[in-house]
Amino acid sequence: MITSSAPGKIFLFGEHAVVYGKTAIACAIDLRAHVTVEEAPSIQMKGPGGSIDLNPRKHPYIYSVVERFKDLTDVTGVNIDIHSDIPVGSGLGSSAAVTIATIKALDAYYGTNLSLEDIAHMGHQVESEVQGRASPTDTFVSTFGGMVQIPDRKKLGFYDMLIVIGNTGKFSSTRKIVSNVAALKERHPAVIGQIMDTISAISETGIEFIQEGDFHTVGELMNINQGLLDSIGVGSKELSELVYASRKAGALGSKITGAGGGGCMIALCEHKNLSRVAHAIKRAGGDSFICRTTHAGVRIE
Ligand code: MEV
Repeated sequence: MITSSAPGKIFLFGEHAVVYGKTAIACAIDLRAHVTVEEAPSIQMKGPGGSIDLNPRKHPYIYSVVERFKDLTDVTGVNIDIHSDIPVGSGLGSSAAVTIATIKALDAYYGTNLSLEDIAHMGHQVESEVQGRASPTDTFVSTFGGMVQIPDRKKLGFYDMLIVIGNTGKFSSTRKIVSNVAALKERHPAVIGQIMDTISAISETGIEFIQEGDFHTVGELMNINQGLLDSIGVGSKELSELVYASRKAGALGSKITGAGGGGCMIALCEHKNLSRVAHAIKRAGGDSFICRTTHAGVRIE
């Protein structure tokens, strides 16, 4: 029996701007997906009612991973069991974490010796196949962990940051929101182009202050980033309520993470304010999770 795990991710800065080649900072968080594999008579998925044969419609990510292993090795029967701490469909990279942890578990089980680069690459292929279009950020961060400057995928030094995640519980389609932003940019190219440049400057400035451990300034930059995300129409009443509630409760800064429209926001906190901020987010109608940034990418447990 082999168990692996892989982390979810947040955007500290720069979502949406990164779609136009601008700088963003993504970071792995200590909410993880765990995948256990063990010998079985066929290729099966464990579910609440017992194990069932792998099905491309019910388990598209795992099916696509297994198909790729068939090109690498002789795939024998295996039971795959998934447990994830990462809320699904909320912009925290839950499908990427499940995909990457599955690849690592099967790699160890079949002895295929994939490198981390191979794992990240296969993960991105799987996400692209299932979702149509997928950014490589989620699978890269989930594989390598830590803090990553994108689009260059440059690993930055690791800094331990305390984050409260607020989940609106509202699903939003990344594809639709990205295309709304593209349409807005087409209508107002000079205005939106400059906003994207400014978001990029925030990410670049943010790197310096993260490296200095100046989280008060990092929080201030997150608030500016949030204002610009609102200005391009990716905010929502629910997200704003969580953002303002977290700031009132003492967060150093807070913003949407991911595509917006629904999904999650993040609040950067000092230790003394963590539970106050988490409670304030709950009172404002969100689900809240206290987490920290992590250097740990995919690993065998
Ligand atoms: C979505 O999680 C982040 C966006 O920047 C899209 C992307 O990077 O592909 C909105």
